[in-house]
Amino acid sequence: MKRKALSVSGILAGVLVFALFADAGEMTEIYSIARGGRLYDNWITTLKIKTPPKENHASYPATGKDKGASTWRCAKCHGWDYQGKDGVVNKNLRTWMGKDVAEVVTILRSPTHNYTPALLPDDAARDVALFLTRGVIESEKYIDPANGRSRGDAAKGAPFYQTICGICHGMDGRKINFGSDKDPEFIANEATEHPFEVLHKIRSGQPGQEMINLRTLPPEVAADILAYIQTFPVR
Ligand code: HEC
Ligand code: HEC
Repeated sequence: MKRKALSVSGILAGVLVFALFADAGEMTEIYSIARGGRLYDNWITTLKIKTPPKENHASYPATGKDKGASTWRCAKCHGWDYQGKDGVVNKNLRTWMGKDVAEVVTILRSPTHNYTPALLPDDAARDVALFLTRGVIESEKYIDPANGRSRGDAAKGAPFYQTICGICHGMDGRKINFGSDKDPEFIANEATEHPFEVLHKIRSGQPGQEMINLRTLPPEVAADILAYIQTFPVR
């Protein structure tokens, strides 16, 4: 009796293991959503495009402060909270959560956006649409828009930061300098000055750079890490 029970559970376990693993080299949906997040951030550096558009995007308002290729980045128009924060378009993209990927792709190919397949290939258009329809969060649940402070718990974020981020960024966040020797910029500067952008990058990774992303962990963990980084020195 016992043997039989064991073998049944053995088969069940086998089926489960089979179902949990994608074929080697076949990318999972969660991978594509994270890639979509990096494409939303900056599809030009994510795709390592050598000759990006030189002219401003036709839908970029003259009042915006960006110029050239940068005006083609989703985030520069639609913002880091997916509702226009630090962007220039007042439109709530969060309404697309749960909707059809193909519908978003159609919008990207339409004249308002003009992302032709030569600029944004089908797989990239699909991934950015996957991000918008499956991967967007309500950022203000995790960051207080009034003061930019993470609503997360810095003490809970510390072990995640030290075991996941610290190896590259240093235990006090000063190992990678994005600025210059004279005018250094560390993740603490970014986290205090642009918290919505940093939350996005923690969840999706840094376009074109060898950085991990935390897409497999709940957004609360990203908020806890953000809270911890906000305690770091900025100079
Ligand atoms: C130059 C500015 C600009 C850029 C860059 C841009 N958009 Fe838009 N987007 C707009 C404008 C303007 C609208 C509103 C059009 C309208 O109301 O008809 C819009 C509308 C949308 C909509 C439909 C919103 C709705 O509910 O009607 C989606 C989805 C969208 N954009 C996704 C993206 C994605 C994804 C990217 C990057 C691949 C992107 N956009 C890049 C300006 C931009
Ligand atoms: C494997 C190394 C690596 C790991 C691990 C890593 N990063 Fe990064 N990160 C990078 C690199 C490389 C850059 C880009 C540096 C540059 O642009 O000069 C970067 C950039 C950033 C930026 C700057 C974005 C900007 O606005 O320029 C932030 C914020 C950041 N990382 C946060 C994190 C956090 C938080 C973690 C842990 C969840 C993490 N990183 C883990 C390598 C890493």
